[in-house]
Amino acid sequence: MDKTHLVDTVTGHRRMRRNRKADWTRRMVQESRLTVDDFIWPIFIVPGTGIVDPIKAMPGVNRMSVDKAVEAVKEAADLGIPAIATFPDIEMDLRDVTGSQSLVADNLINKATAAIKKAVPNIGIITDVALDPFTSHGHDGILRDGVIVNDETVDQVVRAAILQADAGADIIAPSEMMDGRIGAIRRGLDAAGHQDVGIMSYATKFSSGYYGPYREAINTSGLLKGDKNTYYVSPANGTEALRDAALDVEEGADMMMVKPGLAYLDICWRVKEAFGLPTYAYQVSGEYSQIKAAAMNGWIDGERIMMETLLCFKRAGCDGILTYFAIEAAKKLAKG
Ligand code: PBG
Repeated sequence: MDKTHLVDTVTGHRRMRRNRKADWTRRMVQESRLTVDDFIWPIFIVPGTGIVDPIKAMPGVNRMSVDKAVEAVKEAADLGIPAIATFPDIEMDLRDVTGSQSLVADNLINKATAAIKKAVPNIGIITDVALDPFTSHGHDGILRDGVIVNDETVDQVVRAAILQADAGADIIAPSEMMDGRIGAIRRGLDAAGHQDVGIMSYATKFSSGYYGPYREAINTSGLLKGDKNTYYVSPANGTEALRDAALDVEEGADMMMVKPGLAYLDICWRVKEAFGLPTYAYQVSGEYSQIKAAAMNGWIDGERIMMETLLCFKRAGCDGILTYFAIEAAKKLAKG
């Protein structure tokens, strides 16, 4: 026999391809799986009624008035999506240096929460308490003499969180990256009788270029002066992000989030391994838009890459994904 085609005798009997040979073997050995339970759908809310306003930099994503958002969230609940995350795009003349709108009990975000909770009681509502949608400078905190002041921002964020919980928010996800905020929000919520309202930590939020389209969506890109490097984590620093996450765990976070997602899968893995808490990746606006743009150009198969990226978050240890693809991916899963 001509042995030139025989593979090496030591490894030759270890054939990885046996388990890949058929659809049924591949299904048997599949390690990670994507289900509709994995999705958290972020949505953008605008004032007014009857508004469904496409966001240019995010093809397929709209800003919606509260009435339209209620309809859309009903669809999400019918598809089985467990939770949504809301972000407001408020009137320019309501934005100021301290983001005082965040302390108005019936502001846009709280109106949306109350209306959605009433109409769709069985979907979870996750709200952000960062001040950026409310400030005239687009920063996440109170700006004084060129500095985002930590402790005063935390005080305000706690008060905003209590108002959000009063309106019906189920989980507070503070994205403003001030030190000490998780503990302060926990104490504030408990003192206000909101012991059952959870906190999803954004501890590993990186100072990223991937947030560009989101800033168009909530109209902060024209406002933002400078960058957020004095409070977000540097993309270079994984170990520092883990230390930040450890503080949030100690302070009482119920769930962890890594943001952005795909470029930070190592952080997803490390956070899940280190703390064992439910861990979510935020596949942010720029990640969404880059897939959409390439797909629209016919350069990639957008649907395939949507499903692949979402599955890869699961492989990397995530319990779920905040993704603008939630509806599209849920429909695809439902079709099988
Ligand atoms: C800010 C905030 C950001 C996102 C959600 N809340 C980032 C930022 O503008 O700094 C990004 C979400 C996305 O890009 O999809 N508090």
